[in-house]
Amino acid sequence: PWSEDRARTIIADHRSLRGALLPILHALQEHFGCIDDAAVPLVAAELNLSRAEVHGVVSFYHDFRRTRPGRHVVKVCRAEACQSMGAERLLDHARRRLSAAPGETTADGAFTLEAVYCLGNCALSPAVMIDDRLHGRVTPARFDALTRQEEP
Ligand code: FES
Repeated sequence: PWSEDRARTIIADHRSLRGALLPILHALQEHFGCIDDAAVPLVAAELNLSRAEVHGVVSFYHDFRRTRPGRHVVKVCRAEACQSMGAERLLDHARRRLSAAPGETTADGAFTLEAVYCLGNCALSPAVMIDDRLHGRVTPARFDALTRQEEP
């Protein structure tokens, strides 16, 4: 859960780094699962930036989330190599199977679906990452098996 004290400590721990904004945002997301709206003014004040500038960076980088993710994060690669191996079809399948569009979380909070650009697994396209595990040559059937296996 969000804690302003905790956020202040995280910000203080990173503020002396060169280009501190990105490391601070990464550390906040790592700890809280997302960049809470309440964190933005704290970060802005510490770094002498405007809130709009901090908001701008959070929304520019797709890595940052504004809301807490589901219990599992499913990333489907849609970059070039994967696209040529049917990534768009796989993403459509994922969207139907999870009833969530990229960026959304399933109603039961189990999965957040994300479309990403290259997971570094191009030789084994199409690639999917579920939490920290990378999977290659993912067919729709395999996608179903992988997500079924993660469900509680
Ligand atoms: Fe999909 Fe690189 S293009 S893993």
